[in-house]
Amino acid sequence: MAKPPLSMKPTGWFQVAWSDEIAVGDVHKMKYFDQEMVAWRAESGRLTVMNAYCEHLGAHLGYGGKVVGEVLQCPFHGWQWSQQGRNVCIPYQDHPNRGRRMRTYPVVERNESVYVWHDVQRREPYFDAPDVFGAFGDGCSAADYWPQQRLHAERLELHPQYVLENGVDFAHFKYVHNTPIVPVFTRHDFSGAVSFVDFTITFEGDDGQKIEDVNSGVEAVNGGLGIAVTKSWGMVDNRTISAITPVDDSTCDVRFMVYIGRTPGKDPARAEPRAREFGQEVIRQFSQDIEIWSHQRYSDPPALAPDEYEGFTAIRNWAKQFYPDAYASQEG
Ligand code: FES
Ligand SMILES: [Fe+2]
Repeated sequence: MAKPPLSMKPTGWFQVAWSDEIAVGDVHKMKYFDQEMVAWRAESGRLTVMNAYCEHLGAHLGYGGKVVGEVLQCPFHGWQWSQQGRNVCIPYQDHPNRGRRMRTYPVVERNESVYVWHDVQRREPYFDAPDVFGAFGDGCSAADYWPQQRLHAERLELHPQYVLENGVDFAHFKYVHNTPIVPVFTRHDFSGAVSFVDFTITFEGDDGQKIEDVNSGVEAVNGGLGIAVTKSWGMVDNRTISAITPVDDSTCDVRFMVYIGRTPGKDPARAEPRAREFGQEVIRQFSQDIEIWSHQRYSDPPALAPDEYEGFTAIRNWAKQFYPDAYASQEG
């Protein structure tokens, strides 16, 4: 086992659940960033993510906490907490406790996922969680795709940065994913908190072809370290989301989602099972990466081939902005 030496408390958006796991009235338990948390859905449908322990005497709100209209009621003494983490009722006193506050997290629901904003300094979100349809500006929406297919792997000894480094690692495609030839990168933009990587790639043909003649590729948008979305072109139309969320100091949960494009005019009875099969193939490819990541030891400094130097240096420098050490030393 090789515990990642990188910070497990990075800043950014991270997936903590899928929306359909938390119905109205549900209180969903989870642990991320070494914190016990609950996500609960009010009657209005609004979702709140907060730390799990009641500020009164510390009951865990995930064990018997009850959604009452728009607030969450503690199972121990009935104190009620608002969506802002404020105490709004002590059932046996005239006044609520106005001083204590439950820690809540900024939350968005997008592409069927629940994303929370994590920042040890508690700054407000300063970039958006990427949208697997909106990020590519081509007017596509979920209606153009078959239902989302999912992979969920929990408590793996890896780090979000390992997954993003795939985006500059041209050499692994041939060995891990059996592409006939090595892909070539056409865009690396690491200038902002959201970064962009495009590459030309093919899974077809033999090793005699030239990458310059290939007419298919992938565009990727990385919203910080936690969420990456991709769009494929020139091959089976698919979109993916990979979301890696630290659980504690040595493990992460991995979620991977695939959408396969609908082809207008095709018989849906035949097209849907094919889409499902292709989606499973994309998930299988991603599992091959997971097998590597979950056993690798982060290499720093790595032994890079000359052609790898630029990409890895760029992504590793970019990643530093999300780690608490970076801004501690800036302030230092
Ligand atoms: S511990 Fe929650 S109300 Fe007392
Ligand atoms: Fe990969």
